[in-house]
This record gives sequence, C-alpha cells and structure tokens, in this order.
Amino acid sequence: MITAQQIKDVLETYGNARENLLVILRELENMSGMNYLDKSVLIQVAELMNLPPSAIAGFVEFYTMFRSKPRARHVIRICKSTPCHTMGAISVFDSVKQVLGIQEGEATPDGLFYLERCECLGVCSVAPAMMVNYDLHGLLTHEKIVSILSSYRNNPVADGWGSGEEIDAAQTILPRTGQTIRLLENIGKIDPERIEDYTNSGGYRGIRKALSVSPADVVSVVKDSGLRGRGGAGFPAGLKWSFVVKGDMQKYVICNADEGEPGTFKDRILMEGNPHLLLEGMMICGYATNATIGYIYVRGEYRRSIDRLQMAIEQARASGFLGRRIFGSGFDFDVFIKEGGGAYVCGEETSLINSMEGFRGYPRYKPPFPGQAGFNNNPSTVNNVETLMSVPMIMNRGALWFKEVGTVTCAGTKLFCLSGKLNRTGLVELPMGVTLREIIDVHGKGILEGKAFKFAQIGGSAGGIVGQDMMDTPLDIDTLMRQGATLGSGVILVCDETTCPVDFLLHTMSFFKHESCGQCTPCRIGCAQLEKTTMNLAKRIATVPDLTGLKTLATLMKQTSLCALGQSPIMPIETMLKYFRKDFENHCNPDYKCAACDASLSRFFTGTH
Ligand code: FES
Repeated sequence: MITAQQIKDVLETYGNARENLLVILRELENMSGMNYLDKSVLIQVAELMNLPPSAIAGFVEFYTMFRSKPRARHVIRICKSTPCHTMGAISVFDSVKQVLGIQEGEATPDGLFYLERCECLGVCSVAPAMMVNYDLHGLLTHEKIVSILSSYRNNPVADGWGSGEEIDAAQTILPRTGQTIRLLENIGKIDPERIEDYTNSGGYRGIRKALSVSPADVVSVVKDSGLRGRGGAGFPAGLKWSFVVKGDMQKYVICNADEGEPGTFKDRILMEGNPHLLLEGMMICGYATNATIGYIYVRGEYRRSIDRLQMAIEQARASGFLGRRIFGSGFDFDVFIKEGGGAYVCGEETSLINSMEGFRGYPRYKPPFPGQAGFNNNPSTVNNVETLMSVPMIMNRGALWFKEVGTVTCAGTKLFCLSGKLNRTGLVELPMGVTLREIIDVHGKGILEGKAFKFAQIGGSAGGIVGQDMMDTPLDIDTLMRQGATLGSGVILVCDETTCPVDFLLHTMSFFKHESCGQCTPCRIGCAQLEKTTMNLAKRIATVPDLTGLKTLATLMKQTSLCALGQSPIMPIETMLKYFRKDFENHCNPDYKCAACDASLSRFFTGTH
C-alpha cells in the first residue's frame, strides 16, 4: 500500500504541475507492487495537484498502460498487431495461457503474473513479441515462453525494468552491404552511453557549424536539402521551421518519439543506438527557430530509449553542451523528456501536445498549427526522431551532399523496417525510391520457407497494401501517394501465400477501433462499425453489399474525422479490396472454409476486448 508520504515524495520529485501528471502516475503505479493505481491514491494525487478527481480518473482511463484495479507483480503484454499476428501471436497467447492457467484479464493466484494484450511494442523484427513489465522478449516459441516465465518466477528481484533480454539496436540492423548508410553509421560502432564516443566520431560538429551562421541560414540549408518529415506526413522540414511565428515569446522544439505505428521500430533503434545525435538535431532546430527548450515525447513502452536519452542529456549538460550559452555562443538550450502512456493517437502532433500538458491525448482543431500555438500555446516545432537526426549531417556535409541520393522530390535515405514472412527481418537504410523487389530479394533474402509473396503492407496499419504489380514501383513519398498508397513511417510488412486478407484486415480494423480516442463521432462510431463488418466477413455472415458499405463508411470517415486516425482506415480497405476482392466475396459465403479467420475469432475476438 502506498503511503501518503510516498505520494508527497513523488510529487516533490517531479513537481505538481499538471504537465507532470503522467510520469507521477507511472511512478506510483510501479510503486504499487501490483501495477495499478488505487482509487485512494488517485484522490490524494488530485488533492495535492489541485485537480478534480474526475480529471485524474479520465486521464487514467485514457492511457492503456494504467489500470485502476490490481493486476499482479508482473504484467505480461502480448502484442497482437499485424506483424506479430502474421508471425504467430495467437500461439503466444495459447502458450502463456496454458503455462500460467489464466485467461486474458486474469492474474495467477499467487499474484505474480497478469495477462493482457497490447498493440505494437516496437520490436517487430523479432515478432512474435511480448513485454513483461518493461522487459521485451521476441522470437517467442512455447519453449522460450516456459523458460522466460520461470525466470521471473525463480528470481524474486526481477523487476521487469528493462533488465530482461536485450533486443539490441545494432543487431536489429541488417548486414550493411548494399545499403546507403548515413543515419545508422555510428550505431553499433560507438557506445551510446559515452558522450566521448560521440564527440570523437565527429559528434556535435553540426551544431557548432550552425552556431557560426545565422538562424535564417540554417533554415535555408535545411530547406535546400529537401529533407521531408520521416514520421509519415512527409512535410518539408525547413519549410515547417520557417512557419514558426517570430517574436520574443518562449518557443519549443518537440521531438515526436511516440513511435506506435505497427511495424515501426526505427526510432527506437536510433534513440537507443545514438541518443546524442537526436540531442544535436534538436539543438540545431532550436537555434534555427529561436527555441530554447526541447522536449522528447517518448512512448512509455520504450524504457531503454528513455533511460539512454536521459543519460545522454545529463552528459551533455555536464559537458556544457546543453544549458546556458552553449559552445560559447549566446544561445541557451536544454532538453527534457516527456513519457507517453500507451496511446497511438498521441503520435498525432496536437494529441501529443495535449498529452505533454497532462491531458488526455485528444487531437486539437487545426489551425492554429503548433508552429503558431503548440505546447502551452507557445510556438512549437514538432518533428520526428529520424527527421531531427538527419539535420546534423546536413549541417556537416551540406544540402547538396544530402540530395546526392534519393529522388528529385524526396531527397536522402529512408529507414525501412522489415518484418513478416522474410528470411531476414530488421532495419535497413536505403535511398528514397528503392523498390520493394530490392528490399525483399536483396535485404530480406526472399520469402520465408520458399513460399510465394502475397502482399506487403507499406506504411503500417494506416498504410496501404501493395501487390506483385508494384514490386518495381519506386518507394518514395510522392510516387506511392500517386498510386493510392503511402510510405508512412517506412514499414515493410511482408505476407506470404498463407495469409488470409480478411483475417489481416480484421486485425487492422481492430487496431483502429482500439486506438480511436473517441473524441470525434465519425472515428469513434466508424472504427467500431468497420471492425464489426470485417468481423462479420471473418464469421462468413456478411454479404457482398457490405464490401461497398466498408468503403463508403471509411470514405465518410476520411472526409469528416478530426485527425489522421479516423482518416486512415480507407487506405487499407481500398487497397486490400483492389487486390483481393475475390477472397472477400468468398467470405460472404457461409459455407466457405477459412482456418485463419476461425483461429482469430475463437482466440482473439472472444471475451475481453
Ligand atoms: Fe508486435 Fe510490432 S512488436 S507488431
């Protein structure tokens, strides 16, 4: 039981401003020993923070990592997103249930384990995966699960605080031959926990160079480089920086490290493998936009990234690289971390800002854009990890060098996250415009077990399905958009001939329903209805006109939803139907046999959801 004094101590450590609510509750939940926030604790927090108890209750309810009922000492979260589902997440569920003798939403009688499902954990190259508290475990088999669970059972001090299996950043990168290595250059070569390793390899040279010219010159260089946002939208970075309103008010740089798109793990590798590069990119952005404070909003599941970044921040401060008058200039800049609480929608920039302020991660109406009114209503530049990390090398080597690779409108390299039915999965860095054929045949070493390629999901759950006919299409932002797909965050999830398109789409729609924040009606009702119709297809009780209904509803959602989440389901639906309409029509026949749909319905879509 957490004491009143302990609660006061936690508030004193973090400060009782509302913007610290998430980290305060995370700390208290961890201290509970049973991974939950008791009602009495929430009431005391509300009193001490001078907030209505309803605000705290709504906050806890919104973020999936929190619970207000006791769970257990170890919370097992099994990933069910499409990359893990493709690689056998159902078997992982079956094994854990069998070994522990519990169902989802239950705890073992000894209070040691609690079982729940979750969406992508960001380790998709080693799918199927699960997390025990904050320890990640991948490539799961029944034998491995037995061994993992017994290691927690037999080790009373195992706290699940990132002390488990290391899913190593360097090892996630595929052999570099044939890649165009830029961003990944130092990962695996330098020790990410030693600032000297970074500086000795040329680190913090980009910011020194930036400080020797005017902020407007820095913006020009980034504009000239053609760097476009790597988080999904592809907006030109330099142009975004130039939109930040001028004036003396406080300005912020916000790094969006809420990497939640199923199939994406690149930002985790970058942050774990080279955290100082991100700090340097933020410094340059801060100088160019006249911001003196930077925040990195990291998804709560990425414990190792948070710890490495915190260590890097402290080392940079101790070296005088962060703080007042950095590198002897007149420029002040410091960086702080904000943690997420398990909400995909917080990857949307205005939801992220609401979350940073200690509110539910609801998207805001735009305009105003964050460059005008962002964090605490102050001008804020929001960029993704990969985007910001590209900036120091642009400052060092120049805009022309950056444009040497890539396509005319999409310069530079892109990180691609390979997962699914490939002989090799992991991270690769390749020029924008590379083909799916090269990714599959050269870097992924072909389809697993010699099976036939069926389709690839590019860009994650919000992305599109790409078939054999697009094997030689250049993978860049504009070409894919013209073809009705999206590059998104760089997910390449490959599925073979055994994959059922209806089952796959059901898991995609289930993801959207789970992650819809519920603020706007089209998305809240629409996502639930899309899942229901897709489930009816999987049950073989839908009709052919329902296929038109799916498209009509998703189109309406695209036109009327407040943010990208509700606008996204149309792309996977349209592209899936483009290639596999016959499979969908077959599922409208009650006598049609489908083992994949049967397995999902009997094991995933029963009971708690
Ligand atoms: Fe399971 Fe990413 S870790 S889908």
